[in-house]
Amino acid sequence: MVLPVISPSFVFSLGEGWTPLVLTRRLGTHYGLRMLRVKDESRNPTLSFKDRGLCVAISKHAELGSTAFAIPSAGNAAVSTSTYSAVGGIPAYIFMPEDTPRPFFEDCQMYGAITTSNPGSISDSAAAMREKGGKWTDLSTTKEPYRIEGKKTLAFEIAEQMGWSLPDAIVCPTGGGTALIGIWKGLDELEAVGLIGRQRPRMYAAQSGGCAPVVRAFETGADTIEPWLNGETKAFGLRVPSPFAGRLIMHALYRSSGGAVAVAEHEIASTMSLIAKLEGLDVCPEAAVGFAGLSNLIESGQVDYDEEVVVLNTGSGVKYRQA
Ligand SMILES: Cc1ncc(COP(=O)(O)O)c(C=O)c1O
Repeated sequence: MVLPVISPSFVFSLGEGWTPLVLTRRLGTHYGLRMLRVKDESRNPTLSFKDRGLCVAISKHAELGSTAFAIPSAGNAAVSTSTYSAVGGIPAYIFMPEDTPRPFFEDCQMYGAITTSNPGSISDSAAAMREKGGKWTDLSTTKEPYRIEGKKTLAFEIAEQMGWSLPDAIVCPTGGGTALIGIWKGLDELEAVGLIGRQRPRMYAAQSGGCAPVVRAFETGADTIEPWLNGETKAFGLRVPSPFAGRLIMHALYRSSGGAVAVAEHEIASTMSLIAKLEGLDVCPEAAVGFAGLSNLIESGQVDYDEEVVVLNTGSGVKYRQA
């Protein structure tokens, strides 16, 4: 058994996961890559990869007796939390930055969550949540173990969908780092049960140049991440000034011989449009950072033309367009 929930009655599933690993036809050629695949997480029940982690976390904490949940979020994790809390019939309290696109607030409210909007970044929303206090389980990124358990299924699926082989590189748009850390853990577990060998893909974190604490840490060879002051990016999910699990993020980047890449803010909108037109995929601004990051990695020679690469489309762009 690889996931933590024991009783089937606490599996609050809506059919998350097993998203397609799309082999691109024209986008790979555009970047000059032989094999570019997109793990399309926009097909999850609430349209983002956050469903994996929050389905498992909410189910497991409910099994352990939680009676309420709270989370600071840039939008997608909030909607996942509201949705899976609704499945379990458990109250959810959501703290989001006030500039989060309105559809995220509306979706949370539709699922019955109590939302609060706060000035500043997700860190300020987390501070507002702590200040308010409540008898809830705190689902903040990497402050409890079970969201990462859900995220590790990304690694299981990528390996299985590639016939138990692995790509040369995986590019993850990175804020708090749940995808990176989860995939890294999942790969270790696959090795432990003998489904893969010791070989690992190079893991790359992609961030907007407007808020790039992971890139700065990588460039200075640091093991920990210094806070990025006054970060600004339209990829709201990547506006994480100080990832709590900085050490784990850096560990995955260094151990895999991967890296971290920053992307100019103006590339986000043009990349979203490029991918829609070339590949028929609806990507969110955060994922656009991943694709633009890949383009930079190819240009700088860190990714080679004949390598197999997977980029995560971490979510749909629809709520951003509605806003
Ligand atoms: C669509 C999307 N992509 C990427 C991220 C960054 O994910 P993580 O914080 O797990 O690194 C987020 C976080 O909010 C997000 O909503």
